[in-house]
Amino acid sequence: MKLDAFVRDQWYVAAWGEEIDRAPVAREFLGRPVALYRRTDGDLVALEDVCPHRGMPLSMGTVVENDLQCGYHGFRFDPCGQCVHVPSQEEVPARARVRSYAIAERGPLVWLWGGHADSADEASIPDTPELSDPNFHWVTCTVAMGGHYLLMHENVMDQTHFHHLHKNFAGTPEWDRGEITLEVADGRVIRTHTTPASPAPPVAAFAGIEPGTIVDSRSVGTFVQPGLNTSTTTHRVCNTGFTGVLQTFHIITPETETSTRYTIAVGTTDPTADLERFEVGVCTATLEDQQAVEAIQRVKAEPAAGTEVSVKADQPGLRARRIERELRVEEAKRHERATI
Ligand code: FES
Ligand SMILES: [Fe+2]
Repeated sequence: MKLDAFVRDQWYVAAWGEEIDRAPVAREFLGRPVALYRRTDGDLVALEDVCPHRGMPLSMGTVVENDLQCGYHGFRFDPCGQCVHVPSQEEVPARARVRSYAIAERGPLVWLWGGHADSADEASIPDTPELSDPNFHWVTCTVAMGGHYLLMHENVMDQTHFHHLHKNFAGTPEWDRGEITLEVADGRVIRTHTTPASPAPPVAAFAGIEPGTIVDSRSVGTFVQPGLNTSTTTHRVCNTGFTGVLQTFHIITPETETSTRYTIAVGTTDPTADLERFEVGVCTATLEDQQAVEAIQRVKAEPAAGTEVSVKADQPGLRARRIERELRVEEAKRHERATI
């Protein structure tokens, strides 16, 4: 059985809602180009970004009322992807159509369904209520990573890299030695990392806690699905009980087999947090992750790349990898049954 490189019957984040307006925006999504725009009523449209006439990217064209008009010879496509107008002749070839993707907006995020539009179930879009909660103050960073998207899931599931890769921001030596437990339920991998009575890391400053203060730290990270990983970190000051909370969404969208659009959004409940400095810290750490992932991707591409030696802290990431593969196997079986 041949497996697809991606899990397609899933929702992935294509953009922030505020990034998409009437002018078409080009995105790479699961190995395919996609053009995104809004209709006159504000509803979103996602069409395959290749004109079936001569292959011009439709995102280089213009939106006319609710349709997308190719910038080369003016073929016009409706939101379902059907060509409805050819300027040079009366009749429209029936085969002149492009794929239309199921798309949905939830809070500030735009989600795209990777499979066939008629199998999309909006009820399965993961909840991200904190992103719309006024008690949280957010900083974000988006990068195009030159690496397979599972490398990013593994990165965020194993926080023992914090003290080494993000030394001046996220880690402490005590965090390295924290206790890690693992739970798997409903296709989710939940990793809990606890570090009792230890100095707070620098990042705790943005949760209202002076770095170095003795805190009980607990980070619960979840591989929610192939496009989303989350983590909730609490630092509880041992002698006062004050608790600072940092909520993180790792939005991981595969573009190709070796490139990933990664957005991190970190929210704090501390209204006095210096968000400018916080953003610098989050973006610096993201670039450190990017350097690591891209270097690993280059090493793995070498024919002489060796096997990996794993330790206990790798278990959550390895479970996530396994679940991702199981999803691809299930999908291949479904498609095989459908074609018999
Ligand atoms: S390539 Fe699009 S109309 Fe010709
Ligand atoms: Fe990291």
